[in-house]
Amino acid sequence: MKTIFFTGKGGVGKSTLSSAVAWQLAEIGLRVLAVSFDPAHNLGDIYHVKLGHRKKQFGKTNLYLQEMDLEKSAAEYMKANMSILQEVYSYLTAFNMDSYFDILKYSPGVEEFAALTSMQKILEEEEHNFDFIVFDTPPTGLTLRILALPRITVAWIDRLIRIRREILEKRYTIHKLKGKYSEEGHKLAYKESDDNVIKKLYVMRDRYKGVETHIQGEDNRICVVFNPDYLSLRESERLLDGIHELQLPIDTIFHNKLADPESDAARRVEDAMLKKYPRLRIERVPLIDHTEPACYIMDKDLTGVFTRSKTHAE
Ligand SMILES: Nc1ncnc2c1ncn2[C@@H]1O[C@H](COP(=O)(O)OP(=O)(O)O)[C@@H](O)[C@H]1O
Ligand SMILES: [Mg+2]
Repeated sequence: MKTIFFTGKGGVGKSTLSSAVAWQLAEIGLRVLAVSFDPAHNLGDIYHVKLGHRKKQFGKTNLYLQEMDLEKSAAEYMKANMSILQEVYSYLTAFNMDSYFDILKYSPGVEEFAALTSMQKILEEEEHNFDFIVFDTPPTGLTLRILALPRITVAWIDRLIRIRREILEKRYTIHKLKGKYSEEGHKLAYKESDDNVIKKLYVMRDRYKGVETHIQGEDNRICVVFNPDYLSLRESERLLDGIHELQLPIDTIFHNKLADPESDAARRVEDAMLKKYPRLRIERVPLIDHTEPACYIMDKDLTGVFTRSKTHAE
């Protein structure tokens, strides 16, 4: 299973291009899932179908569509974690998680974390069901934070595992000291094999390490979409720098909405980017007169970009 992330400034054509790519890959017989992570979804509008949180087959084609409801994912994520915390800390009767639930959903980072959790779930559950998963992402800032999150999360979990090990070692020391005179009551685990917290941390670590490895690996492509205008160019440069800083592979950039794809102006804009990232592959997409409502149909064949081998731009 391969994945493609379309990123870029709002309005540059991420949804249009990701829909066109998803449709074209399905047309050549591949099994494709197109997922929108942008809270302002328009996948349903593009395909003229009503979509929801669960994937839906597009007619009788190889293409499935899904609009992630990040708020719903965040609520599901919080609920699942609250119940784990409640289970683990059941001996602390004063620990009332319910009172935190309503406010925690507004805390910074919850939306990004919900996106990461949903992405992880999709990658795990759909691995054998699809040849390609095409992600349509929210505008730059949120996307960069989502892409950064697997690495940050793994680093945090490693830290938590170290702290938990220290706690278990201290508990073991106390256990040895008390010996057979320890009074009966609630027994706290002191071995890793008995401790639910550390077990859960190992499971989480594996999960997010899997996402991190995947998005950095050969089967993932991160594509930047930009337009031939100054603001879009500047934001794309920042996006490329961000992706580079995160040590993620940049693949192809799509120069979209070109009135004249062969013009010198188009080349000048691209030269600025190629100076910094000389191995960047650039695909030009002309400005299309969308007279028919099916905007996922595009004359230009984009499948070649994704069926031939990957480039490494950095
Ligand atoms: N190549 C193109 N030619 C003409 N219009 C385009 C092209 N690509 C995108 N558009 C139009 O630009 C607008 C924004 O595109 P959209 O895909 O929604 O951008 P994003 O998802 O990046 O916000 C839409 O009205 C879309 O129809
Ligand atoms: Mg969009």
